[in-house]
Amino acid sequence: MKVTVTGATGTLGRDLAGALLERGDSVTVLSREPRRAQSTLGGVRALEWKEPKAAEPPLEALEAQDAVVHLLGEPVAQRWSEGAKEEIRDSRVLSTRNLVNALARTERRPQTLVSQSATGWYGPRGDEPVDESAPAAGDFLAQVVSDWEAEASEAGELGMRVVLTRTGVVLSESGGALEKMLPFFKLGVGGPVAGGRQYVPWIHADDVVGALLFCLDSPDASGPVNLTAPEPVTNGELSKALGRVLGRPAVAPVPALAVKALYGEMSSIVTTGARVVPRRLEELGYHFRRPELEAALRSATGKE
Ligand SMILES: NC(=O)c1ccc[n+]([C@@H]2O[C@H](COP(=O)([O-])OP(=O)(O)OC[C@H]3O[C@@H](n4cnc5c(N)ncnc54)[C@H](OP(=O)(O)O)[C@@H]3O)[C@@H](O)[C@H]2O)c1
Repeated sequence: MKVTVTGATGTLGRDLAGALLERGDSVTVLSREPRRAQSTLGGVRALEWKEPKAAEPPLEALEAQDAVVHLLGEPVAQRWSEGAKEEIRDSRVLSTRNLVNALARTERRPQTLVSQSATGWYGPRGDEPVDESAPAAGDFLAQVVSDWEAEASEAGELGMRVVLTRTGVVLSESGGALEKMLPFFKLGVGGPVAGGRQYVPWIHADDVVGALLFCLDSPDASGPVNLTAPEPVTNGELSKALGRVLGRPAVAPVPALAVKALYGEMSSIVTTGARVVPRRLEELGYHFRRPELEAALRSATGKE
């Protein structure tokens, strides 16, 4: 398969590009810094997309490809100043618009667009399980995700199969949520956040890659698909499991106010949550590589 990947230099993109190359696919990546991308990723064709918000990507990156995986975006896990919020939103919404406009101009159009999305769609929820049929919430992230998905869905009008991969909290050895949690746990001051009853829609990075490949390969996959493990846990359960894996106690409760003082409005990502279930992946027959939390944590912390 000939696949174009945006955001391939990121935490998830690096793993995906590696997995595509490993199975013999030919991979084109679009990056603001193609030389860095080329040297980091090895056997890919790296092309420049200098200003994803302001301009379309080069057509040669899309012409006669089989599929596009669109991952790029300004990191969400940072203090949300007004400027940061604008970049979080625009890097996703405007780049997707520019990508779809370029796809419209191709002569031999890719059949599939797998466009990254996030479980932020669902916003803060209680204990009830939510699947892909739940409506978008009204907070900042949900609005971003909803506008981002709307732009990607326009590719459906071009006759493409569009998959919106609503990804949860990724457990990865390089970057992501654990990178932020581990220093506290290693010092023995990690524990349940803001009471610990909110659900964490976790997924191991190997399953993000597995599910992205699965969505690329499965003709029946289209529309929103939750990329989350089959058994979401509460923040308190996740803290306990991480404490066990690290051999450190995880009993020091972290008050919501403390997280808010550190991270401002962005803290809502950890102080609230949703019990997201991967209904579409299960219906489509995806086989999870790391469905069990403790094993996933052992792998993501290098304790396997
Ligand atoms: N990791 C998670 O836990 C998680 C969970 C749910 C959803 N997601 C979503 O999945 C996607 C990939 O996540 P990731 O963790 O791999 O992201 P990442 O490591 O932050 O990398 C994303 C890539 O996007 C490009 N990029 C970053 N900021 C940009 C900006 N302001 N404008 C244009 N391009 C920019 C960069 O590529 P170049 O420098 O090569 O251009 C970067 O390598 C993101 O959209 C993210 O929101 C991630």
